[in-house]
Amino acid sequence: MNPAVKSAAEYARSMGLVPYLVEWGLRGLIEGWIKEATPEDLGGMIHRGGTALGSSRSKRFYDLEFRRQAFQNLKRLGISKLIVIGGDGSFKALNQFYTDFEVPFAGIPATIDNDITGTDYCLGVDTALNMIRANVDSIRDTASSFSRAFVVETMGRDCGYLAMVSALATGADVCLVPELECDLDAVAERLREERKAGKKYILGIVAEGTGMADSLTRWMGDALGMDARLTVLGHVQRGGSPTVYDRIMAYKFAVAAVEHLLAGDTNRVVTFQQGSFESQSIHEITDSTHRCDPKLLDLCRGLSR
Ligand code: F6P
Repeated sequence: MNPAVKSAAEYARSMGLVPYLVEWGLRGLIEGWIKEATPEDLGGMIHRGGTALGSSRSKRFYDLEFRRQAFQNLKRLGISKLIVIGGDGSFKALNQFYTDFEVPFAGIPATIDNDITGTDYCLGVDTALNMIRANVDSIRDTASSFSRAFVVETMGRDCGYLAMVSALATGADVCLVPELECDLDAVAERLREERKAGKKYILGIVAEGTGMADSLTRWMGDALGMDARLTVLGHVQRGGSPTVYDRIMAYKFAVAAVEHLLAGDTNRVVTFQQGSFESQSIHEITDSTHRCDPKLLDLCRGLSR
């Protein structure tokens, strides 16, 4: 998110606009925690994880009176356009704000879950994947040294994207995600054969949305007769310095968002599809259900049975 904030503000300034920063997200809009973006504000954030501006899930924004207060804050400063970096919830909130006060916005999709409809990529995903990859590589050291079975639970809410890509990237033996039916009998048969053929240790990656991390770990102990351990990676996946890919993607998303606003577009979310940047209306994004790439599901099917 930080590289996106920096790029959007700097590009907007280069296009003759005056960029402002809203601290603490929707709450900051209500409270008026808004200031002009200076080079000093924008320096030193590109390499930082999390968000330097702060974020909040403000319930008060559901209330028209607080949205009116937010609008007065923008009006007082002469702010006429918004860029919002986030997910469905943030886009819906800004869309309601547009319905009320006609302040156009451009959305930049950012969530490690990679579950926003219409875009192949959301900011933060590559950084999270690299974090998971580094941790699983480390866990593999203990797994191999002690001939153990290890289960690693990844985040992603109801989406198995992080688990699937991580399983492929780390060479995991098992991958369970909400999108794929699993057949544990078949997994047991396959792994027993592999153990007989000399496999020393087992790595399984489980998406949190399956709720199966605990049971798979117990199952590995029982069905394979191995010493089994579970690691829940948790919030380490949401932190850490953004990867080069994320920084460059942030730059491109941010430039596209500013361009949309300059072109007079309203309520569009910048999307990345098959290698190019497009945009979709907020309704196309929020009214449809996200589906994982079928090719990715095909690649992982063999790991869930
Ligand atoms: O949506 C991003 C995400 O990190 C999910 O992968 C995870 O389930 C959730 O947020 C965790 O939310 P919180 O930080 O509120 O516990």
